[in-house]
Order: sequence, then structure tokens, then C-alpha cells
Amino acid sequence: MSKLEGRVAVVTGAASGIGKGIAIAFAREGARIVVADRSDEAQAAEVLAAIAKLGGEALFVRTDVSDEASVNAMAEQALARFGRVDILVNNAGIFTESLLENMPVDDWDRVVGVNLRGTFLCSRALVGQMLERGDGRIINIASQLGQIGGTSVAHYVASKAGVIGLTKALAREVSHRGVLVNAIAPGPIETPLLDGESDEWRSAKLAELPIRRFGTVDEVTPTAVLLASADGSYYVGQTLGPNGGDVML
Ligand SMILES: NC(=O)c1ccc[n+]([C@@H]2O[C@H](COP(=O)([O-])OP(=O)(O)OC[C@H]3O[C@@H](n4cnc5c(N)ncnc54)[C@H](O)[C@@H]3O)[C@@H](O)[C@H]2O)c1
Repeated sequence: MSKLEGRVAVVTGAASGIGKGIAIAFAREGARIVVADRSDEAQAAEVLAAIAKLGGEALFVRTDVSDEASVNAMAEQALARFGRVDILVNNAGIFTESLLENMPVDDWDRVVGVNLRGTFLCSRALVGQMLERGDGRIINIASQLGQIGGTSVAHYVASKAGVIGLTKALAREVSHRGVLVNAIAPGPIETPLLDGESDEWRSAKLAELPIRRFGTVDEVTPTAVLLASADGSYYVGQTLGPNGGDVML
């Protein structure tokens, strides 16, 4: 029996990287998927084709998670198509770099707006119908930088620490009503998000990572499947860390 048979999952930022991997892994386990990404449908073609190849079902909804109206419209479309959403993965995230002393306010607002406000808006749009059924899972993709900090990424660190706090707060509100909320804080994972990083950054980061290599998307997706499935039924408000040892708690 597949682990997510009959479940419906919304995965934000599923056109690329970790979100794409999670969407495909969930489809492989039998879930129907809503691919919610600010990219257009052509940019989501690979994930949609991969799900179709598995015999799965997917709905693409162009969504800006930082925009309330866009998020609410996505939730409406998902519910109109599938009747319910059992699993929400708040994965959409962005990253820019500058020292705080030079950081443009727009950069701060954009990064916090997508990473933290987006997680709040999507959770708010979908948690109500989970609570009505007394059943649901919310998985927030944080980052190990939200746990240890990082240079030139104060907005990103603050947003991801905020995601971890939001995870704990919402978990306390809804776990006894059947909805389990947890986070994943990956270490550096080879995705387009890291494309802009310099060779100097890469070699310095590799030298400090206990495992001495970056992770792959496939090393993150099993944690998402765990938290989404019956196997994850006693995880509440946790932050799990597929991070190569970058953080040890
Ligand atoms: N790659 C890493 O090393 C790493 C490490 C820790 C955490 N993360 C987190 O994992 C998540 C996924 O990152 P990734 O590495 O796969 O990045 P990615 O750039 O490959 O994918 C991000 C996806 O999010 C989408 N997106 C961006 N803004 C959006 C918005 N406003 N609304 C909807 N969709 C939007 C993009 O179109 C893209 O498809 C992010 O939250 C990121 O912060 C990544």
C-alpha cells in the first residue's frame, strides 16, 4: 500500500528544486498534487510530466504565496478540483544576499514576504478545512540557517527562524484537533537556489560541513514523506534536519 494513497497535497514552489522533488515523491506514494508556483505552467512542465509518467494526477495553479488574494484563489481552485487538501507543504522560498548594513528594505520585505508571510497565508487558507475533518498535515520548509544564522542573509535567517516559530505556534493550536504541523530545515542542497553562490562560498561551506558534500533533493524528500504519512503520526512542532551535520541539536 502506498503511503499517501488517496491524499491530496498542495506543494508550493513545486516547479523547481526541493518542492519539485517532494511533489514527485508524494505522487509516487499515491497522492494527487497541486503544484502552486509563481512560475508559469511551461516552467512547471517537468514536474507535471514526471507526475503524469507515474500515473499520478496534478493540477497546476499559478500562485504568488506572498499575495493574499492569489493564495486564497489557489486554495479555492484546489478545493474545487479535489474536494479537500490533506497535506500542505510550504516550500516556496527565495534568497538574496547582502550585509544588513546595506540591505535594501525591498529585499527584506520580499524575502520575508515569500518565506514567512507566504507560509502564514497558505496555512491560514487551508488549515480550516483540515480542522473541519479533524485531519491534516502541514510541513514547512525552513532552513538550517534559521537555526544557526548566516552572514549576508539576515532577512532569510529571520524568515526561516520565523517559520520554525510559526510551526511550533500552529502545532500547539491544532495538533489536538487532528492537524500535525512540523518543519524541515535542510542544509545546503544542490538546487537552482544555490546557483548564484561563488566558488569561494562553496569551498568554505564544504570544508565546514561534517559530511563534506552538499545534499541532493532526494535526501530531503523522504523526510517530507515521513511527516506527511501515517509513519509521522507522533511528530508535533518538530524541525527535522537533513543537513549533513551542519547543525547538530
Ligand atoms: N537549496 C538549499 O540549499 C536550501 C537549504 C535550506 C532550505 N531551502 C529552502 O527550500 C525551499 C525550496 O528551495 P529550492 O532550493 O528548491 O529553491 P528553487 O529556487 O529551486 O525553488 C524555489 C521555487 O519556489 C518558487 N517560488 C519563489 N517565489 C515564489 C512565490 N512568491 N510564490 C510561489 N512560488 C514561488 C520558485 O518559482 C521555484 O519554483 C525554499 O524555501 C528554500 O529556502 C533550500
